Amino acid sequence: MLYDLARPFFFSLEAEKAHGLTIAGLKALPLGPAPKNDPVLATKLAGLTFPNPIGMAPGFDKNGEVPDALVRLGFGFAEVGTLTPLPQAGNSKPRIFRLPEDKAVINRLGFNNEGQDKAIPRIKRIGRRMGKGILGINIGANKDSADRIADYVIGVRNMAPLADYLTVNISSPNTPGLRALQDKGALEELLSAVMEARGDIEVPVFLKVAPDLEPADIDDIIDVVMTHKLHALIISNTTITRPQLQSANGEETGGLSGAPLKDLALQRLKDFRTASGGKIPLIGVGGISTAQDAYDRILAGASLVQLYTAMIYAGPAIARRMNCNLAKLLKRDGFASVGDAVGAGDK
Ligand code: FNR
Repeated sequence: MLYDLARPFFFSLEAEKAHGLTIAGLKALPLGPAPKNDPVLATKLAGLTFPNPIGMAPGFDKNGEVPDALVRLGFGFAEVGTLTPLPQAGNSKPRIFRLPEDKAVINRLGFNNEGQDKAIPRIKRIGRRMGKGILGINIGANKDSADRIADYVIGVRNMAPLADYLTVNISSPNTPGLRALQDKGALEELLSAVMEARGDIEVPVFLKVAPDLEPADIDDIIDVVMTHKLHALIISNTTITRPQLQSANGEETGGLSGAPLKDLALQRLKDFRTASGGKIPLIGVGGISTAQDAYDRILAGASLVQLYTAMIYAGPAIARRMNCNLAKLLKRDGFASVGDAVGAGDK
């Protein structure tokens, strides 16, 4: 309700300015304690207990400034990043575009972030304030790096001691060549190096993939992920495809997120579920904006879901609202927990 009044003001600002203001607001405002979660929403993955299955996707809090505030807003987990070893300015502005008629966003940020060294002390401090919320850290490679796999190794060494889980992000369309790391040979080399870099720290590692994949790519990815015993796949990042769009900004270059990504991301989740025979835990992202969307992803095999773009359109109460309605949907259908509903759509 309140956000309905504030949204015209935010939308009158250039998108990246509005985002900066949102982060500043979350840092400054007294948000009160995290809401109490209905026990039916608690869900386990990779040995972690998530108080609810709805997380903030990476890109919202690139530098790890407000993961604790996101938990207070009702998110069960917050994934910060993408953080690269060195600070990086990203592409020239403007580079985030709203598509209001489509409830979508196109971004070509290009991993702008402060770099891991600057983020580490802050995340150490804020990580202690997460309560029951789970902290994910998403790592990437610098655009100009001579050895991108080495960048991920640095990321793992830097961030493993701080994170509840790590995400290896090789699916941004805005760093030229990055998505080639999804190819079998490169992925093999990358994941082998990443898993070894953890050393004695048994932090779970997730891999985030693009939605723009062919069936053969999916089989290859599953093969490598199972060989190296990664803990989950996150499906998916933004798409470079352009489904029918109404908005003037629909022709901008970059990754498309929000409502027009929903069907594609759900289909890819199903593809990975089928191809893996349900053997790898999955996390669903892309165009999720309601409890029903989250529920559909869970029934299709997701143990957790994430969102970002929907919060731009629906406001900061979205996680609380979705959790409340998701608990009702689960109980209506006789599920005792989220875990019981994961993949129930298979039957
Ligand atoms: C993103 N996303 C993203 N993903 C990632 O792994 N690292 C990142 O740094 C970013 N940055 C980023 C910036 C902006 C402005 C947007 C809109 C998105 C992708 C994001 O995490 C998610 O996968 C997609 O946006 C799809 O989910 P939604 O937004 O449709 O809920």
